[in-house]
Amino acid sequence: MDNILEPKPYKILIVKKLTAIEWLFRVEFDEIEKINYGQFIQISIPKIGEAPISITEFNAEEGWIEFLIRKVGLVTNVLFELKPGDEIFMRGPYGNGFPFDENYRNKNLIVVAGGSGCGPVRSMINAVNNNFESVKNMEVILGFKNEECILFEDDISSWEKKSNIITTVDEMCKDGNCSLGLSSGLVTEHFSKLDLSDLSNVEIVIVGPPKMMEFSAKEFVKMGVPEEQIWLSFERKMSCAVGKCGHCRVDETYVCLDGPVFNYTKGKYLID
Ligand SMILES: Cc1cc2nc3c(=O)[nH]c(=O)nc-3n(C[C@H](O)[C@H](O)[C@H](O)COP(=O)(O)OP(=O)(O)OC[C@H]3O[C@@H](n4cnc5c(N)ncnc54)[C@H](O)[C@@H]3O)c2cc1C
Ligand code: FES
Repeated sequence: MDNILEPKPYKILIVKKLTAIEWLFRVEFDEIEKINYGQFIQISIPKIGEAPISITEFNAEEGWIEFLIRKVGLVTNVLFELKPGDEIFMRGPYGNGFPFDENYRNKNLIVVAGGSGCGPVRSMINAVNNNFESVKNMEVILGFKNEECILFEDDISSWEKKSNIITTVDEMCKDGNCSLGLSSGLVTEHFSKLDLSDLSNVEIVIVGPPKMMEFSAKEFVKMGVPEEQIWLSFERKMSCAVGKCGHCRVDETYVCLDGPVFNYTKGKYLID
């Protein structure tokens, strides 16, 4: 019988430095047909450890997936020493991902992402952008600490051609002047610019640091958006990622199996 926890080796194809501590890794992968937007992979380095990392993009024809990885600890430190041609070990995809077909199709989709929270939503935004008929309308707010922290600038430029994209930085831009097209202020300060005229048809995805998700969700609820139409994605400490070890368990919820994407009706009880 196959061991579902046994990872397989895959070759790194591209390593691209996006910021000092956030790099993009493109890795070959052979099970792309199993992937849903917002799912994650368990990446491991022998004798070091394993870490869950969201799939930020995937391409079935070319046979690769991409990760946006933050250098924070044991596994990610070693990953940042690797180069194209080196191998990493992977198992997955895991988790539920965003319920695009069930809930977002033909809706006004609003995506709010903070910092590396752009990683889990990037493939879904790219897919909508390439097949805009799948939604009625899409608006995106991306929040970063400052101009140096902005991720996926090429993707943002292409999204701007079709959607209302607000890219905002928390810290005042240099000399008080933001670069062309850049706003300043927290993501919540830009919610009034969104088209919320038909609240019955809107679906909102929020991914970012816990406080950002909490304040954003509460603000949307205050603006009249029903809780059932708000979705969050969580990063919790995990081990097995298949519902066996209990590491990710909160009460009766297994974040690895039931999440990482949760409707706010449930997610509001999971925010740290
Ligand atoms: C569903 C999911 C999706 C994720 N997606 C991504 C993603 O797309 N990109 C990404 O970069 N990350 C993502 N993460 C987060 C990532 O899995 C964690 O940051 C992971 O712990 C990194 O592994 P590591 O071995 O490099 O870090 P670790 O060594 O596990 O360290 C992680 C953090 O814990 C701290 N720490 C380590 N050891 C100790 C200690 N002994 N005492 C106190 N603090 C300690 C470190 O300082 C660091 O802040 C995701 C997590 C989940 C659950
Ligand atoms: S990580 Fe083991 S049960 Fe979720």
